Amino acid sequence: MTLDEIYAPVKDDLALVEKKLATIARHDIPLLGKLLEYALINGGKRIRPALALLSGKFCKYDLDVLIPMAASVELLHIGTLVHDDIIDNSPLRHGKSTVSQAWGSNSALLLGDYLFARAGRLAATTENMRIIRGFAETLMTISGGELREAGTSFDMADAKENYYKWINDKTASLFIMAAECGSALSGCPEEQIQALKEYARNFGLAFQVIDDILDFVGDSSQMGKPVGSDLNEGAITLPSIIYAEKYPDSRIIHRIIIEKDKGMVAEAVEKIRSSSVIDECRDIAQNYYNKACQSLEKLPDCEARKSLNALVTFVIKRNR
Ligand code: IPE
Ligand code: IPE
Ligand code: MG
Ligand code: MG
Repeated sequence: MTLDEIYAPVKDDLALVEKKLATIARHDIPLLGKLLEYALINGGKRIRPALALLSGKFCKYDLDVLIPMAASVELLHIGTLVHDDIIDNSPLRHGKSTVSQAWGSNSALLLGDYLFARAGRLAATTENMRIIRGFAETLMTISGGELREAGTSFDMADAKENYYKWINDKTASLFIMAAECGSALSGCPEEQIQALKEYARNFGLAFQVIDDILDFVGDSSQMGKPVGSDLNEGAITLPSIIYAEKYPDSRIIHRIIIEKDKGMVAEAVEKIRSSSVIDECRDIAQNYYNKACQSLEKLPDCEARKSLNALVTFVIKRNR
């Protein structure tokens, strides 16, 4: 199934979210207007707003609060991408220069801040304390998770455990928030909200594991961002961790992880790419996929549930 087919139950409402983003992109400060348009009208997959809207379909679907909230989660997502590209030194996003590459880190930093604040203001329009608090906590979790990762040196003994915690915080937390917003704002019973959050958590974990696999085996032109760059930027993700576990005497991994020797990165990427490690990582993503699908079974069967199921299937198979 294509994303358009998967999004069918919320197609018109996603178009309204898109319109909202286009409105936000117009700003009378010329530089800010230019940056906003560049960052917001970006050809991204819009997974998080779709998740928020589809999660709203199980009870009283209230567009007055769901549209601003779906736009809010996408703004928060884009803000994290703009900041992430500064941190990762990345030249490319959505097939074009990153904001930091084109306008410099200072502008990108401030744009990210602006996007967080704009997202927060939209969340506040719901006048729902659970949502407003959830928004603030999610942003704390994302930035706190990144700082924990940046501030601790790599330790093989608990590498996997730290990795799962890291991707839970930086990625799954926003999926959870999207699902919680959609369902709580629609007045879903608490068990359904919890089932959707559990779905979203496993979905988010699968999503990041696949992203980390694609950094080794993906195609840069399809993804619109660099591949092979995680190791180069010192990000030790699941494929590298499993490779290092399997081949503890490997000179390459030792040189990169311990001695931070960047000269070995290309060779290491090639070794990992062509090893069985990639399949092992896919099995781990598949396991999260299965758990996500199981959580959906706790919800009433309907078009939205089918779409949520198809969405996590899409993500497992994705190449962009
Ligand atoms: C990219 O997310 C950031 C990660 C969490 C890996 P997406 O792949 O959902 O980003 P866009 O918005 O579709 O480009
Ligand atoms: C996701 O991690 C970062 C955020 C959640 C902001 P990545 O660093 O893997 O994302 P990409 O690959 O740059 O999109
Ligand atoms: Mg990155
Ligand atoms: Mg990545």
